[in-house]
Amino acid sequence: MSNFSPPPGTSDIFPEEISLWHRLEDVARRVFPLYGYREMRTPVFEYTEVFRRGIGDETEVVQKEMYTFEDRGGRSLTLRPEGTAGIMRSLSGTDVMNGNEKRVYYIGPMFRGERPAAGRRRQFHQIGAENAGRVSPELDAESIALLLHYLDELGITGYRLLLNTRASGEDRKPAEDSLRAYFANHVPGMCPDCKNRLERNVWRILDCKQEQCRVFIEKVPDIAGLLGEPSRKYFEKVCSSLSAMNIPFEVDSRLVRGLDYYVHTVFEVTHPGLGAQNAIAGGGRYEIFAPESRKPIVGVGFAAGLERLLMAQEALSVKAPQPENSPAVFLIGLGENAISENMKLASRLRKAGISAITEVEQKSMKASMRAANRIAAKFAVIRGDNEISRGTLVLKNMSDGAQSEIGSEPQSLMDCLKKAEAIAKD
Ligand code: HAM
Repeated sequence: MSNFSPPPGTSDIFPEEISLWHRLEDVARRVFPLYGYREMRTPVFEYTEVFRRGIGDETEVVQKEMYTFEDRGGRSLTLRPEGTAGIMRSLSGTDVMNGNEKRVYYIGPMFRGERPAAGRRRQFHQIGAENAGRVSPELDAESIALLLHYLDELGITGYRLLLNTRASGEDRKPAEDSLRAYFANHVPGMCPDCKNRLERNVWRILDCKQEQCRVFIEKVPDIAGLLGEPSRKYFEKVCSSLSAMNIPFEVDSRLVRGLDYYVHTVFEVTHPGLGAQNAIAGGGRYEIFAPESRKPIVGVGFAAGLERLLMAQEALSVKAPQPENSPAVFLIGLGENAISENMKLASRLRKAGISAITEVEQKSMKASMRAANRIAAKFAVIRGDNEISRGTLVLKNMSDGAQSEIGSEPQSLMDCLKKAEAIAKD
């Protein structure tokens, strides 16, 4: 590791890559409002209890991956490992608790202390959407439709939508009993965490990543038929709503997802271009308890990992349109007076919406032109004592080297730039 590297599992995003990120964000800001969602921002850290209670004490995320610290006031705080619990902590003080619907989306960094690998970061970024307040299978299907609409607009094709139900409340019981009976036969081969999960939260075993446990998890009997009738009906309605919208999906009865707040519908979108960490997005219906709240907040939503969306786009050779990054004008002053006049001129240009960079050091003409080339300026403006005394500027077109002397008033420069731009566009 070099001294210049950021901490493991984090990355710098350089100006050359930023347009790809902006595109992911811009498309979300365009598509999500079509479904009535508005952007919301919550803190990057929360009271630890928000995640322990919201996501569930038994989950890998809470047990092993949270960045938790005590602040100077002795409060236990945690960098958010995901967005839903914080958003629901915030909305649980509003009328969504009375069944009024709220549709929000968020974009930002999340933090999980996982072992870094391709597509698995310690600081990663999510775009998520939450529809809180109401319970309806149609809303679950619509949340999925929004996610897929977003992926389509990003040019991401070839994904798979995996769907399952975790059922709700008592409807889970027969399936849970059957799972417990099955896993009870495999205790000797289990990792210590799963031995604990057997009594405390048997569903979490399905999500264990340990090789020794995967062997018998893969052979788990299909429990879908054991779920109670109301939950099965709910799930059938989600499936038929998706089919009505022509959305293909695959039911995967082992999909439980890694967070404990899910009830009813859970889903994941995977992409073959990603390797082992192949989930580009995941979500589902949930009931989340904010700290000290007796009543859960209900909702449905999803989050997509931006790093993984970029990987999918790269695998598909989707190119983001390159925005114009190079400055329009580089101002070179030969002498102190010329530099100070150039500073004033640059400020006028910028206020008129023309990007400009001033060379603030006195350099040779050759060195200044090299600097203009390095930043790929479209025009150079050159001014020395002669030009100052004549009230003129030299304007050089950097693409063809053509040079002309023009009046030094900002307006004549702006007129010339406009004319040159019009010619270049023809
Ligand atoms: P999640 O499945 O934990 O769900 O994360 C959602 C997405 O975030 C994943 O599909 C993946 O693309 C990305 N992601 C997760 N962990 C990492 C990581 N360590 N490195 C890179 N990308 C990662 C949630 O977070 C839920 N809050 C989603 C949700 C919203 N459910 C309901 N509403």
